[in-house]
Amino acid sequence: MKRLAILASGSGSNAEKIMEHFQNSEIAEIALVASNKADAFVLERAKKFDVPTFTFSRKEMDAGVLLQKLQQENIDWVILAGFLLKIPVELTRAFPDRMVNIHPALLPKYGGKGMYGSFVHEAVKAAGEAETGITIHLVNENYDEGRIVFQASTPLTSDDTPDSIAEKVHALEHKHFPEVIEGLL
Ligand code: GRF
Repeated sequence: MKRLAILASGSGSNAEKIMEHFQNSEIAEIALVASNKADAFVLERAKKFDVPTFTFSRKEMDAGVLLQKLQQENIDWVILAGFLLKIPVELTRAFPDRMVNIHPALLPKYGGKGMYGSFVHEAVKAAGEAETGITIHLVNENYDEGRIVFQASTPLTSDDTPDSIAEKVHALEHKHFPEVIEGLL
């Protein structure tokens, strides 16, 4: 049985889909949901699934507190699902090819510094893109540059707004992320 930890900073709708997916799994269990925000809604979602939670500050993460917790809990894989802090190098090194992130666009487009949340969808809209999508990738020391393991796209029209783009992207994420994780394990 693989032990997975989800790191998330916000609402956690992806985290919820992942917890649902692995609820009765014989392959993996969600052993921990960890957040840098004490009031993140993802923590409520975790409680609903009886998944233990852990919160930490950026300073604590940088001082190794999160890594220590993940090791204590014997975590095999780390899933980033809307986690907004830059991961310290010691953490990526501790989980070589065992840390996965979802990005709400078709990398290498719309990746890198400042490209998160609604900023991504606003940039896609401003560029008049005919499609957008999701990228699931392994995390290495250069955040958005780890090996891409999965992409899916969705068409856009000129009527789409950043909000409707976000909705389309979330639908793709919810559909694919849990299965892609299972495939990686
Ligand atoms: C997702 O769009 C994900 O791609 C990005 O952050 C968002 C998190 O959404 N990295 P949620 O908290 O899972 O609803």
